[in-house]
Amino acid sequence: MGFGIGFHRGIPYAPAHMGLLDGKTGIVFGVANKRSIAWAIAQSWAKEGARLAFTYQGERLQKNVEELAGAFGSDTLITPCDVTRDEDITRVFAEVGQKFGTLNLLLHSVAFAPKEALEGDFLNTTRDAYLLAHNVSAYSLVALAREAAPLMTDGGSIIGMSYYGAEKVVAHYNVMGVAKASLEASTRYLAYDLGPRKIRVNCISAGPVNTLAARGISGFSEMLKHYEAKSPLKRNLIPEELGATGVFLASDGAAAITGQVIYVDCGYQIMGM
Ligand SMILES: NC(=O)c1ccc[n+]([C@@H]2O[C@H](COP(=O)([O-])OP(=O)(O)OC[C@H]3O[C@@H](n4cnc5c(N)ncnc54)[C@H](O)[C@@H]3O)[C@@H](O)[C@H]2O)c1
Repeated sequence: MGFGIGFHRGIPYAPAHMGLLDGKTGIVFGVANKRSIAWAIAQSWAKEGARLAFTYQGERLQKNVEELAGAFGSDTLITPCDVTRDEDITRVFAEVGQKFGTLNLLLHSVAFAPKEALEGDFLNTTRDAYLLAHNVSAYSLVALAREAAPLMTDGGSIIGMSYYGAEKVVAHYNVMGVAKASLEASTRYLAYDLGPRKIRVNCISAGPVNTLAARGISGFSEMLKHYEAKSPLKRNLIPEELGATGVFLASDGAAAITGQVIYVDCGYQIMGM
């Protein structure tokens, strides 16, 4: 029997697609364009039946996000949010509450550090660059989780995006590695606080993907070549694979998984030399 084909009185039929996320609502932070990791995960969530809201950082990105997310129709909420602004965050979740009632999923796929902090020595990181990187890339997860939790009345799944530079030194990643370490530790503390409310909090640690943010890291194309040569699977990941892991972590299949960092990096993280 073919996968996905049912039989009724001996007659084969293709049943309506049962999505793993049917009936769930989610909000996605971090779509800038079609290459964004957030877009890959959002598409996978939508394919599995989730109803989604999208935020964009500012007017500069409004058109991109409206064009991409607009494909989902009027069921979708598209609204601006600068994650460094508490008033934006409060407004966004009020809008989500009004439109969706409850919320099940949240994707935090947001990071920033000034370009000059992602080249040269970490030693020279300025106070301003350090604070800004942590504000946008780590604290924002805490702020978003706090506002999302009251809407997650039926439990939920919160996912952040991290990178290996959180646990090992990766040349040029600098202050972003330190911010990712903070993001991962925040994930564990949030998982502990929110666990009793059946809200799970996890990170996906992705191998390098050619996106707008990645191109800000000096030597990024060398990183892609290095992963292809050194990772056990001898290739770089494809964004759809992040989408698939995003669906898994959002689904009931991951009901007992919280506070974790899941590597989706073709195995690179296990290597010593
Ligand atoms: N691309 C990679 O190789 C890679 C690897 C591992 C982890 N990540 C992480 O994945 C996440 C998504 O990055 P991406 O690679 O898809 O790049 P991207 O540039 O497409 O996404 C980064 C997003 O962060 C948003 N952002 C930045 N400052 C913001 C602010 N103040 N308020 C609201 N939004 C803000 C941008 O608008 C953008 O949408 C980031 O956390 C990044 O560190 C990326």
